[in-house]
Amino acid sequence: MRSCAPSRRCCGRAAGRPGGRLIVVASTLGTLGHLDPRLHPRFDGATLDQVEYAVESWRSAVHVGTAEEAGWPRWLNVPSKVAQVAAVRAVAAERRERDLAEGTLVAAVCPGMVDTATSRPWFSDYSQAQSPAEAARAVLDLVFGEPVDPVLYGELVRFGKALPWHGGTPPTEQDRLLTP
Ligand SMILES: NC(=O)c1ccc[n+]([C@@H]2O[C@H](COP(=O)([O-])OP(=O)(O)OC[C@H]3O[C@@H](n4cnc5c(N)ncnc54)[C@H](OP(=O)(O)O)[C@@H]3O)[C@@H](O)[C@H]2O)c1
Repeated sequence: MRSCAPSRRCCGRAAGRPGGRLIVVASTLGTLGHLDPRLHPRFDGATLDQVEYAVESWRSAVHVGTAEEAGWPRWLNVPSKVAQVAAVRAVAAERRERDLAEGTLVAAVCPGMVDTATSRPWFSDYSQAQSPAEAARAVLDLVFGEPVDPVLYGELVRFGKALPWHGGTPPTEQDRLLTP
């Protein structure tokens, strides 16, 4: 699965057609609670420009060595996933009424745990992991679902359910792996 962060030009193309789908493959780790609370205001209720600014300030903090004192975790997956979901929420907030009237869906999706080269180094228990083909099923159900469910519009969706945006707690296992 490829994933990206929404941008204005790209989103306009993907979901601009009535009945279109803009689905960003994010992660359960993309809910706000997975980040240090000091960082929440940067993403909560943010516009697309504000999300871009938050990511840019994270990048700058990494470069100048102040990221950890500002609360950014070492494992880049969490801020990048929160930023993806925040960006989807920002785009969705601008388009919700028109999109729902036209049957267009903008959402983020978590495929659940999938056994891939990307995920292997980061988790200790793979007993519940799906194959990529198994994981595609719920994602495609979301893509092809008709009519668009307003409860899922603009949300992070996992196995057909919207995850609470403020949920989650910061993971520690992966940051420990990155501690020299
Ligand atoms: N695996 C999990 O448990 C899990 C759980 C939740 C969310 N996710 C998310 O699902 C997404 C896919 O992860 P995955 O586990 O399926 O990884 P994967 O099997 O390793 O696939 C990664 C994909 O990203 C592409 N890619 C990597 N760098 C790229 C770049 N710079 N430009 C364009 N494409 C690039 C790769 O293309 P090539 O094959 O051409 O290199 C590959 O198709 C990620 O966003 C991940 O965070 C995964």
